[in-house]
Amino acid sequence: MVLLKTMSAKSKYTHHQHSGIAMPNNSNNRKVLLDEDGIPKEWYNILPDLPAPLPPPINPATREPVKPQELERVFAKELIRQEMSQERWIPIPEEVREVYRLWRPTPLYRARRLEQYLKTPARIYYKFEGVSPPGSHKPNTAVAQAYYNMKEGIERLTTETGAGQWGSSLAFATMLFGLKCTVYMVRASYNQKPYRAILMRAWGAEIYPSPSNKTNFGRSLYEKDPNHPGSLGIAISEALEDAVTHDNTRYSLGSVLNHVLMHQTVQGLEAKRQMEMIDEYPDIVAGCVGGGSSFSGLFWPFYYDVYVSKKAPKKTKFVATEPTACPTMTKGIYTYDFGDTAKMTPLLPMYTLGSDFIPAPIHAGGLRYHGDAPTLCLLLKKGYIEPHAYNQVEVFEAASIFARTEGIVPAPEPSHTIKYVIDEALRCKRTGEEKVILFNLCGHGYFDLQAYLDYFEGRLQPFEYPEEEIRKSLERLKSELPWIDQLPYLKNL
Ligand SMILES: Cc1ncc(COP(=O)(O)O)c(C=O)c1O
Repeated sequence: MVLLKTMSAKSKYTHHQHSGIAMPNNSNNRKVLLDEDGIPKEWYNILPDLPAPLPPPINPATREPVKPQELERVFAKELIRQEMSQERWIPIPEEVREVYRLWRPTPLYRARRLEQYLKTPARIYYKFEGVSPPGSHKPNTAVAQAYYNMKEGIERLTTETGAGQWGSSLAFATMLFGLKCTVYMVRASYNQKPYRAILMRAWGAEIYPSPSNKTNFGRSLYEKDPNHPGSLGIAISEALEDAVTHDNTRYSLGSVLNHVLMHQTVQGLEAKRQMEMIDEYPDIVAGCVGGGSSFSGLFWPFYYDVYVSKKAPKKTKFVATEPTACPTMTKGIYTYDFGDTAKMTPLLPMYTLGSDFIPAPIHAGGLRYHGDAPTLCLLLKKGYIEPHAYNQVEVFEAASIFARTEGIVPAPEPSHTIKYVIDEALRCKRTGEEKVILFNLCGHGYFDLQAYLDYFEGRLQPFEYPEEEIRKSLERLKSELPWIDQLPYLKNL
């Protein structure tokens, strides 16, 4: 899609040879579009560029860092290699780029109508990932993961899903590469969002509300309470158990791990080029955090400019948002914890609320994970990220303002970021600052209309998770694994 015809580099317009597209700086255009050649050819891997070595995942049985071979029963070998790779740029296979062409490059929008409504001098941009067939950023990694598993002869992938965005993305991706797919969906979300489950079935996946009676761990909870609301931690345990107890089956994770976040950098790499085309550079890059994949996918390439190549024209600030009902970054404790409730995963270094955390049934299903990506947590610990938490009532108020100005109905997850962006734009109005704000509209909310209805009818609760519960959960972990505090890896961070 060529937006405007190429202009001379000497004109007041910016010219970009790589795309053959030019746009005036101050045009009235709402969108900046790249053509399909603008789909990145490499992902950006932040591991070699972190401010300190990433503390390793720990095998609780040996108390030693996990060895790649120990993960081979769970993940495709190439994904394990990427997980630990110190290469900065990893080529994107042509077969994966070919699938990306179905919806990538995604548009970068200027939120002019929102700016006008707020009467702010700030310039607000959003990268809209809701144009993918499943409606979010999640297929950026699902397609890559399905591809590598298919190449290694795997026949079926299992996974968990919260909001249903990830499950539907993996169902979509496995279908394209001829794999089967089994999804364990957190029961609270399964009940709130029946249409997501139907979408997964439309793409050929089998789906179970979790806790289910399909796995030993699920059954142990389901038999006590068939209406158990579930959690991502429980659903991960079920999907893992299913994968390791069946041949030719592997597990697939939609967030948290290094390779997953790296696959998401197509967003930030495209956004950088799109901003370059209009001679803009963000003062702020903001996104929501469930496990950290959409936000990292957008901000890592800008982190590279600011801290690695040091070519950024500004010292961009990175802002991460989350719910007060699941406040991992703002109230969590930085320690080693399990990634799932049945304690089947390695111990991961992260800000956590405790792996037995059962979230309040808020509508941002994708933001209810008890921990966050280790890379994100390290950057947060080192002061590179500014976190903010909001309750779901103020979040839906912001989402409604966005829907009524920009037209797109946002998913509840990125609406946490919209709340931040509106607050910041109003602050700019008071100070007169012309800040450039870029955020990630990582999904549309057309399967979340029940949540909007609950908001319109005043049924949403502004949940806050009590700090006392976090302390108790981590005390339980430390009484079980008292040696965690002796591990050397988090010291001196
Ligand atoms: C639309 C959307 N945004 C954000 C998230 C949170 O995950 P992550 O932090 O990995 O992007 C999810 C998770 O399901 C989601 O569906």
